[in-house]
Amino acid sequence: MDRMEAGGRFAGKAVLITGAASGIGRGAALRLAAEGADLVAIDLDAAGLEDLAKAVAALGRRCETRAGDVSDLAVVQAALDTAKAAYGGLDGLLNNAGIGGPMRRFETLETDEFDRMVAVNLRPVWYATAKAHPLMAARGGGAILNVASMAGLRPNRNHALYGMTKAAIISLTQHAAMDYAGDNIRVNALCPGPVETPIFEQMRAELGQAGYEAATRRITQRTLMNRFGTVDEQAAAVAWLLSDEAAFVTGVAMPVDGGWSISDGRA
Ligand SMILES: NC(=O)c1ccc[n+]([C@@H]2O[C@H](COP(=O)([O-])OP(=O)(O)OC[C@H]3O[C@@H](n4cnc5c(N)ncnc54)[C@H](O)[C@@H]3O)[C@@H](O)[C@H]2O)c1
Repeated sequence: MDRMEAGGRFAGKAVLITGAASGIGRGAALRLAAEGADLVAIDLDAAGLEDLAKAVAALGRRCETRAGDVSDLAVVQAALDTAKAAYGGLDGLLNNAGIGGPMRRFETLETDEFDRMVAVNLRPVWYATAKAHPLMAARGGGAILNVASMAGLRPNRNHALYGMTKAAIISLTQHAAMDYAGDNIRVNALCPGPVETPIFEQMRAELGQAGYEAATRRITQRTLMNRFGTVDEQAAAVAWLLSDEAAFVTGVAMPVDGGWSISDGRA
């Protein structure tokens, strides 16, 4: 099918997604493809990417894949180059790849853990946001969405490095939004609340099954809607923020968190 034949909010648009093989990234990829987008997808998980590409093809869209680690900025650059070669540029960028990191008291955190969290959760977001600019400016504009977290708005006990990277993503987003607005490029952050994706497996491994269950109970209780969110709820927000319907929205950090960020912690 010709790219321009598809209907939907993303018809004729090309979007690059990091961390696209699982969870929120995969859900967003399928949602955007269903609405007409062609994709470039990065992930560590090559098999997961292949699976995604098949699902996107079944929707009649293209999905170029780049297996690799976003902390290697050459991988990110190669994906940007792929967008230019395959689609002639870029209309959307979803910086979504991220890891949970250590869950311990502040004074126990190690330098190598700090460096790894910044290398995976923050540095590639900064790099892609900077280097996507010419690809979008050449199209007359575009939209960038950086996946931060509710943890970037308010702290979570024993989760400092994660929260620090997510808070920094919000500041990065605001600064880029200032510089890019005149080029018709919007830059926003999404702050998801709890969604039980594979990212929680690390938490289970660190806390053990009983600790994990207690933690998820606390999370649910702190969420005003008293439940975890779904990938589809995040994908809907991703699609709106990246679409032209959000044409007057830039520099925001939008919670999609069931009220977690304004909760007083009572059920
Ligand atoms: N699930 C939640 O509750 C939640 C809440 C707030 C924010 N977030 C954020 O949403 C984003 C997506 O998380 P998710 O819940 O879908 O998790 P997930 O683990 O299901 O998906 C993350 C994807 O990123 C990929 N990835 C991880 N490190 C990578 C690297 N170095 N290079 C390339 N790819 C890498 C993984 O392989 C995976 O496919 C993350 O930035 C996360 O911090 C998640």
